[in-house]
Amino acid sequence: MRFILHTYGCQMNVRDSEAASALLKAAGHERVENEADADLIVVNTCSVRGKAEDKALGKLGLLCATKRERPNRIVGVMGCMAQRLGDTLFTQIPLLDFAVGTRRSGAIPRLVSRVLFGETNISEISSADEIPDVPDAHTEHGFSAFVTILLGCNRRCAYCIVPDVRGPEFSRPAREVIAEVTALAQQGVREVTLLGQSVMNYGITNGVWSDSDPASPNGFTEPFARLLEAVAQIPGIIRVRFTSGHPSGCTEQLVRAVSLFPAICHHLHLPVQSGSDQVLTAMRRGYLRSDYLSAVKRLRAVMPDFALTTDVIVGFPGETVEDFEATRTLMDEADFDNAFIFKYSPRPGTPAAAWTDDVTETEKMRRNQVLLADQDRRGEAANQRLVGTIQEVLVEGPSLRNASRWAGRSPGNKIVVFDPAPSVLPGTLARVRIVRAAPQTLYGELV
Ligand code: 5AD
Ligand code: SF4
Repeated sequence: MRFILHTYGCQMNVRDSEAASALLKAAGHERVENEADADLIVVNTCSVRGKAEDKALGKLGLLCATKRERPNRIVGVMGCMAQRLGDTLFTQIPLLDFAVGTRRSGAIPRLVSRVLFGETNISEISSADEIPDVPDAHTEHGFSAFVTILLGCNRRCAYCIVPDVRGPEFSRPAREVIAEVTALAQQGVREVTLLGQSVMNYGITNGVWSDSDPASPNGFTEPFARLLEAVAQIPGIIRVRFTSGHPSGCTEQLVRAVSLFPAICHHLHLPVQSGSDQVLTAMRRGYLRSDYLSAVKRLRAVMPDFALTTDVIVGFPGETVEDFEATRTLMDEADFDNAFIFKYSPRPGTPAAAWTDDVTETEKMRRNQVLLADQDRRGEAANQRLVGTIQEVLVEGPSLRNASRWAGRSPGNKIVVFDPAPSVLPGTLARVRIVRAAPQTLYGELV
């Protein structure tokens, strides 16, 4: 069948969609670009905020409505919302054919076959704690690929649905990760992003290195630092990123590993959520403001160019104006390069859902706007400081806006636009001197 996948949510979902797509192709289905051409549509969903689920439910409703004209169309759902709502989705959307949970996406081709043989409303939702079968990464995005190394999450942040829908932590064996990255490099991938909810927890909850694995040449004993060391040296891999971070993972070994290997980018997405100790404690984040700021200091003491991005929630239950102002000052002190701001959304079954959602929608909106305006100023200043520097850019090819110029990304993950030259090929590193900065983009010339 001709199929299309729609992906909502995080990079983990992007990665799962790529794997699902590879499995469907292996089963003889053909991927198409336009939804109108597709006989099979799978929506990969997110549950992190109410709005994310509403969007996916709306999309699924519309897709199933098209089955009146196209009765042979198959519509399925995967990802976090499928895991959370399971069979109840069939009551809400009776024409939905299948739902598959977060640790069972390998089942998709089989579910499609069953639908083709006449079944509908079928589900395959695991208990969220089973050991998953992780299909290999398969990139359709050229030089860059995501590789999930740590599934699930063992933190119990009071607001967060993720541990319920993605289960407890499970770290893939290092050998398996290294084999996957090596295979990707052989297919032409040059940049990998290692994924996990708290990615530096890799190897903490279950063993990942075995006695037969080679010892770390640089004496790394922490499983994640050791993995970074191994991945950074795989032939063909010129860039390594990892996300998301937690301040407790910014250890001496982590800092040393990142600074030691040129392939590892000096950039981390390190969600802070709030700058107020009272709110951080209520959120059960496991750190205080000072812990977060000292993690930032540890990174930047060794790597002054270290770029940081973050997530912040505004309007968490009990967040006062003073708490909010503390978030503003923290964001200035941490000097984030970019920040994603979210309005608190109560999620069923989480501890915080039982607390009064006492910040009004208008006030959440105001706090959201204030932080966005602060960040615009800060991000622009951060970009201005890069004018005159030379950035090592992973060349992607013609820029989306203006195909006569080319674009790539800096180690800090900023888009850099420059005039192409015959000697500069996509998928290689180019040195670009930055001559001008806009809030979202840097402009430069090849050196
Ligand atoms: N409400 C609002 N934002 C949330 N996030 C997670 N849970 C919630 C929630 N209940 C945000 C956090 C997280 C990002 C992926 O989504 O900032 O880092
Ligand atoms: Fe990703 Fe969390 Fe959304 Fe699931 S709920 S897709 S883990 S952001």
